[in-house]
Amino acid sequence: MSTPILEIRDLHKSFGGVAAISGVSLRVQPKETLAIIGPNGAGKTTFYNMLSGRMPPTSGQVLLEGRDITGLPPHRISRLGISRSFQINNIFPEMTVRENVEVALTAFYGQSKRWYNLYSNNTEIQLKADVLLERLALLELAHQRAGTISYGDKRLLEIAVVLATDPHVVLLDEPTAGMTPDETKRVTALVKKLAETGEYTFLITEHDMEVVFSLADRIMVMHRGQCLVIGTPEEVRQNREVRVAYLGEEE
Ligand SMILES: Nc1ncnc2c1ncn2[C@@H]1O[C@H](COP(=O)(O)OP(=O)(O)OP(=O)(O)O)[C@@H](O)[C@H]1O
Ligand SMILES: [Mg+2]
Repeated sequence: MSTPILEIRDLHKSFGGVAAISGVSLRVQPKETLAIIGPNGAGKTTFYNMLSGRMPPTSGQVLLEGRDITGLPPHRISRLGISRSFQINNIFPEMTVRENVEVALTAFYGQSKRWYNLYSNNTEIQLKADVLLERLALLELAHQRAGTISYGDKRLLEIAVVLATDPHVVLLDEPTAGMTPDETKRVTALVKKLAETGEYTFLITEHDMEVVFSLADRIMVMHRGQCLVIGTPEEVRQNREVRVAYLGEEE
C-alpha cells in the first residue's frame, strides 16, 4: 500500500466532558473516495471540523502526506491542501456565479476580495475559473447572480469554490442534502467525474445510501463518535452490525 495522503491517529473530541469523537483512527489513500456515514449526531461534522482546523482535537493526531497538521488553523490547513464544503451554503449571493469562483481563486492566489476588481481581468484567473465552472456544469449560469440560481446549482457552486483552493483532499459535508432526486443525480454524476480526474481525494458524508454506494471506494460507518466498520461498499453492505444499527434491518 502507498503512503496514505491522510492519516488519523486515535482522534478524540469532547465538548464539556461529553465525547463527540472517541478514538477514531483512519488511513486514506491518495485518489480514494471515502464515504462517511452514520446517524445524526454520530460525529461526522465534528470529525471534519478537526481535519479542517476549525476545532482542535482533545487528543490524537492528523497527518497530511506524512506531516503533522494537528491543531493548525483553517487557513494553514487549506494552504496545505485540505478544503471543505459546509452543510449550508457559503457563497456571495450578490455576485455572479463566475465572480464567486474568481474571488475564491483570487483569494487563493494571494489577493484579498478587496483587490478582486483590480484582478478581475487577470487571464490566468479567468482560465482557471472556466475550468472549474465547466467541471461543475455551471458555465451556462456564469453570468447569473449566485443568489438567483437553484439550490442544487448553489451547492455545485459551493464545490467549485472549494476546488478553487487547489486541494488534494476535499471534504464534502452532505453534498446532496435538501436536493430533489434529479438534482441529487446530477451532483452525484459530477462528483463522480471529479473523482475520475484523479486529482482529488474525497471524503463525503452523506445520508443518501444510493449516492454513497455509487461514489464510494470505501465506506466508514460512524456510530457515537467511533468507527463501527470500515470497508468496501460490499463489505459494509454485508456487515450484520451495520445492517441492524444503520441500514434499519431487524435483528
Ligand atoms: N460545538 C459543539 N458544542 C457542543 N456539542 C457539539 C458541538 N458540535 C457538535 N456537538 C455534539 O457532538 C455530537 C456529534 O455532532 P456532529 O454534528 O458531529 O454529528 P453529525 O454526524 O455531523 O450529525 P448530522 O448527520 O446530523 O450532521 C453531537 O452530540 C453534537 O450535539
Ligand atoms: Mg453533520
